[in-house]
Amino acid sequence: NPKAAFVVIANRLAVERITDDDGEPAWRTSPGGLVTALEPIMKSKEGAWVGWHGAPDETLEPFHHDGIDMVPVPLSAEEVEEFYEGMSNATLWPLYHDSVAFPEFHREWWDAYVAVNRRFADAAAEVAEEGGVVWVQDYQLQLVPQMLREQRPDLKIGFFLHIPFPPQELFQQLPWRREVLQGLAGADLVGFQVPGGAANFLRLVKDRLGYETRRGEFVRPDGTKGRAGAYPISIDSQGFQDLANDPATIARAQEIRDDLDAEIVFLGVDRLDYTKGLRQRIRAFGELFTSGELDPEKAVFLQIATPSRERVEEYKRLRDDIELLVGRINGDMGRIGRSPINYLHSGYPRQEMAALYRAADVMVVTPLRDGMNLVAKEYVACRGSGDGALVLSEFAGAARELKQAWLVNPYDINGMKQAIVDAGSAPAADKRRRMRALRKQVFTHDIDHWAETFLKDLGLEA
Ligand code: G6P
Repeated sequence: NPKAAFVVIANRLAVERITDDDGEPAWRTSPGGLVTALEPIMKSKEGAWVGWHGAPDETLEPFHHDGIDMVPVPLSAEEVEEFYEGMSNATLWPLYHDSVAFPEFHREWWDAYVAVNRRFADAAAEVAEEGGVVWVQDYQLQLVPQMLREQRPDLKIGFFLHIPFPPQELFQQLPWRREVLQGLAGADLVGFQVPGGAANFLRLVKDRLGYETRRGEFVRPDGTKGRAGAYPISIDSQGFQDLANDPATIARAQEIRDDLDAEIVFLGVDRLDYTKGLRQRIRAFGELFTSGELDPEKAVFLQIATPSRERVEEYKRLRDDIELLVGRINGDMGRIGRSPINYLHSGYPRQEMAALYRAADVMVVTPLRDGMNLVAKEYVACRGSGDGALVLSEFAGAARELKQAWLVNPYDINGMKQAIVDAGSAPAADKRRRMRALRKQVFTHDIDHWAETFLKDLGLEA
């Protein structure tokens, strides 16, 4: 078996299953930013990507796709329930997002989490060459760094958490808090979206594990050291800008404007997730349309809600709530041929997203808690015209970088309504001034910058 000098481990493999032109099943590289960012290093370093291919009860042999060795990790149907839907998305996901939904704690889920993390670690240990670099991604795989360190002390191990890392007061609820901290502390470098996440982690490692910590460093019982720090993730800014400037995208944006037939278009784009603040956002728009602060004849709110984790109870409940709310507002405030809220429960390709960003006067991103939020950055990258306005939650990691947005507290409905109205009616000069600053940030801190900074700190030469 060929060995890899650079290995990425993520719950999801970097490819999606498609049907090709001849109707045959095939793989396509996932459109996500992570894959885009790591592709060049993967190709220059003989990279391998270890991840789940998305189908329960199916074992696949490793395969080569687009210059990258793909190493599929199988999950049984039961593990999909206990490890993925359970421990990952009904325990850790809500707990790490301020417990905005109640986390459930089940010992069987934890057992499955340990077993699956072990399988990922074994697969990576198998494929990584002597002295190689492995980069573990996200909350589904927090035990992998320590498991790998035990088996393969020769490896350089990085970990990056894409979601928030909670304060001690919340993290303490986790019955397996010691195991999770030890798992993470197995990495040579533990990366977080914001400095607060790294600070929370270091404090926990000190208080709960008794490790010595000092200036971003922690010392394990065997005397070896690791580091923790903030590495805010970003997007392929240039790629989005190019897509937005493609003549086909421009034409599509015009088509969207014509179809919406409104003077002002407000846009929301989110996975249908309870952390995204959709209930509060839709309530705010409902009140604005009802009071006449937004005229339903002139303004439209377009909400794209991408289906996500649909078998998890809390997500089903959210969908029902949102659809009830939207239906009620449109029922009360609409007329034949016109609904003030245009709600779409679907995902779209990148080019359609770029057209939507182009078509929107105001982008409304109001999560209750969000590790980063890349939609906010994508909108900015697509506004080459220098106008457009961004309403952004203070509780998104992106708020630390995108300070010139209209920042809001999504729990404060009146404040949020005011910001939506202000952003919609701001003078062109004000919008341009803000957008210029936002664009500077997004173009100097793109996904390449993120990957390079992290890997350099991990000790990987480009
Ligand atoms: C978030 C997480 C990712 C996850 C993605 C989609 O961005 O940080 O790890 O892959 O959501 O969720 P899914 O459960 O479909 O993988």
